Amino acid sequence: MILGIETSCDETAAACMTEDGQVLSNVVSSQAQLHARYGGVVPEVASRRHLELIEPAVREALFEAGTTLDDIDEIAVTQGPGLVGALLVGLAFAKGLAWARGLPLAPVDHLHGHVASLFLGDDAVEPRFACLVATGGHTLLLDVSERDRFRRIGTTLDDAAGEAFDKGARLLGLGYPGGAALDRLSRDGDPEAYRFPVARVPGHDFSFSGLKTALLYAVRDLTAEQLASRRADLAASYERAIVTALVRGLERAGEALGVERLALVGGVAANSELRRQLQPLGVSLTPLELCTDNGAMICSAARYVPKLRFPHYGDIDAYSSA
Ligand code: KG4
Ligand code: ZN
Repeated sequence: MILGIETSCDETAAACMTEDGQVLSNVVSSQAQLHARYGGVVPEVASRRHLELIEPAVREALFEAGTTLDDIDEIAVTQGPGLVGALLVGLAFAKGLAWARGLPLAPVDHLHGHVASLFLGDDAVEPRFACLVATGGHTLLLDVSERDRFRRIGTTLDDAAGEAFDKGARLLGLGYPGGAALDRLSRDGDPEAYRFPVARVPGHDFSFSGLKTALLYAVRDLTAEQLASRRADLAASYERAIVTALVRGLERAGEALGVERLALVGGVAANSELRRQLQPLGVSLTPLELCTDNGAMICSAARYVPKLRFPHYGDIDAYSSA
């Protein structure tokens, strides 16, 4: 049994999974409320909160799985990319636990974790496939050739897709983190009310900063009253532009690679409009509960990562960027 720990951003997460991919527990303690009043994640605040939440989260994951540390064979932990201070809390906790229990430790790349969320359950997706990883920090197009091997063919030149959702939500007064709130608001709006630009970038890259500026201008031109009545239309049109860019990017990546199988993972994969557009195309989507950061995806990826024994995991360090 694998115990997985994830603390790369503002979710303190722990999960228990069997080697064959059965998720027995998947505990996520979100700090979103804590950071909401700052309008974004404050790294120092996140680290301190992880420190308070990590032990209860692990306890809860063991309890919900109906197991104890005696049955754990391996510890998996996110090494990066993410906030270094936040990552270090999970990493230090995992090292301590591995050492105290004499267990091997698997350091997992967070993005590999998102991809590995596709390797769980009865509908596990088999490589090779083109994969869009859309999170708050990344927007990547990957050529996934094996469960442990992928090559990046595209990225964002500025904001990540999740960041674009969050910034748009903020402009519309939806608070932080706004992606899911903007998704909900959009359902009452007309996606064709506004024509927001969908950037065409050479190659397989994305760009969302122009879109964000277009929304800023649109909002600025409205009185408070007008804004109140047009908010849902603005949200739906803005969302449509992001989704169009992502769907187009993923389809073009599949064509360029000559692969039929396409997949979508990451927090933005929870977006209902994106799922609505991609489902009929047969694109593999991470199950909703595994889209945003969680420990189960870290357990899943750990199966394809070399395990380190003491003292070899001692000097494993966190890394901030991919
Ligand atoms: O993968 P994730 O949990 O964390 C990172 O690795 O960054 O992704 C979080 C991002 C946030 O930007 C959040 O606003 C966005 O995913 N997100 C959504 C939705 N749910 C989460 N964006 C659009 N629609 C959603 N339903
Ligand atoms: Zn993530």
